Order: sequence, then structure tokens, then C-alpha cells
Amino acid sequence: MASPRTITLAFTGASGLQYGLRLLECLLTADARVLLLYSPAAQVVARHELDLTLPTQPHAAAAFFSERYGAKPGQLTVFGREDWLAPIASGSNPADAMTICPCSMGTVGALAAGLADNLIERAADVMLKERRTLVLVPRETPLSAIHLENLLKLARAGAVIMPPAPGFYGHPATIGDMVDFVAARVLDQLGVAHSLGPRWGEARIAPPTIERA
Ligand SMILES: Cc1cc2nc3c(=O)[nH]c(=O)nc-3n(C[C@H](O)[C@H](O)[C@H](O)COP(=O)(O)O)c2cc1C
Repeated sequence: MASPRTITLAFTGASGLQYGLRLLECLLTADARVLLLYSPAAQVVARHELDLTLPTQPHAAAAFFSERYGAKPGQLTVFGREDWLAPIASGSNPADAMTICPCSMGTVGALAAGLADNLIERAADVMLKERRTLVLVPRETPLSAIHLENLLKLARAGAVIMPPAPGFYGHPATIGDMVDFVAARVLDQLGVAHSLGPRWGEARIAPPTIERA
């Protein structure tokens, strides 16, 4: 049996933490090993958008999310903002893939500049230099020329840029459906199996009726 994929998941302070939380739930359900990071601004967004207090201490955060999503022992590890001893801080021990979801324009700018000033930025920097999958889910609107140039720079460096832009062709009925659309596409990029909604050409989307002559 193939060993479970190890995925680094980071939340930053852009709107749309719901996408990131759904990803965390799906990754754990899919038996991936998850290495979780989040910024102080993500904690502010969590309180503001979801009335959710994200623990500040890594061990408390691991216990909180493990209970919330039923993680198996050792399946979820949470690292602090400046835990430079974390495996993902080095190219000698990167995860199989990483996503930053949601990804703020501040973090996009820091990544584009190669700052690596905290563990989220460093882990992403490592993914780029090691040519591993890095999926960014940047959220802002409208996008300035600075944002666009930074995103282009990151795409050219190998990152997958996936704005949270749910399609309407699946006829979403709830916010949950729209969140799942985005989470599904990110999981596809990370190479993690899921069953979040039908794929194009599969069930639920009725084929066009063909008129008889
Ligand atoms: C409720 C809330 C929503 C925000 N939404 C966005 C957003 O959608 N995109 C963005 O780039 N910044 C957004 N911000 C601002 C970022 O949180 C801020 O720039 C922060 O410095 C980002 O830091 P980080 O990248 O370390 O998380 C938001 C802030 C708050 C409090």
C-alpha cells in the first residue's frame, strides 16, 4: 500500500478561511498526514468571519483540530510561526505538497520577494526551490498590478495559482457547495483523493436531450 501523502496546509489572513478548514477536514478524512500552519492574521479572520478562536499554541491547536475533525493519533501536527526546527523549514525534509488557502496578498508579496521571514513563507520557498507542488489560493478583488505581477512571478517559479472561483455549472445550492467546489479542485492539485461533488461529464449533470426527427 502506498504511504499517505504528507501535505503542508497554511491559513493566512485573507477572507475565506472556510475553504482552508474544509481542506483540513478532507485531508484528514483522506488519511493524509497534515502539517498545519497559520498566521496571526488568519486568527483575526477566523474570529471575524466564523466566530472561531484558533488556539495560539501549536499543541493546543493540534488537539483542537484533531478533536474537531477526528484525526488519528500523529496524523496532524501544528507548527508555530517561527519554528525553524520544523522539518518543512528545510529542503532535506519537505512535504509532498503544500497549499496556502486562503492566501493573502501580503503573503503573495512576501513569497514573490523570497522573504522566508516566517515558517509559512519558508516552507513555501522550500517547495519552490525543491520543485514540489505549491498551490496558492489567493483572495483579493480587484487585483492591482502589484498583485498580478507577484502572482505571475510565482506561477513562473512553479506555483499553481488557484483563485477561489467556484463554477456555477454544477448548480451550487449552498455556500457549502461553493466551498466544496474550490476545495475539490485544490485536492486534485495536491493529488489527494476525494468525493466532493460530481466531475464534469459525470452524474447529476443531465445530458442534453436529443430531439427525435
Ligand atoms: C476580516 C479580514 C479579511 C481580510 N481579507 C483579506 C483578503 O481577502 N485578502 C488580503 O490580501 N488581505 C485580507 N485581509 C488583510 C490581511 O489579513 C493582512 O494584509 C495581513 O497582514 C496578512 O497577513 P498574513 O499574510 O501574514 O496572514 C483581511 C483582514 C481581515 C481582518
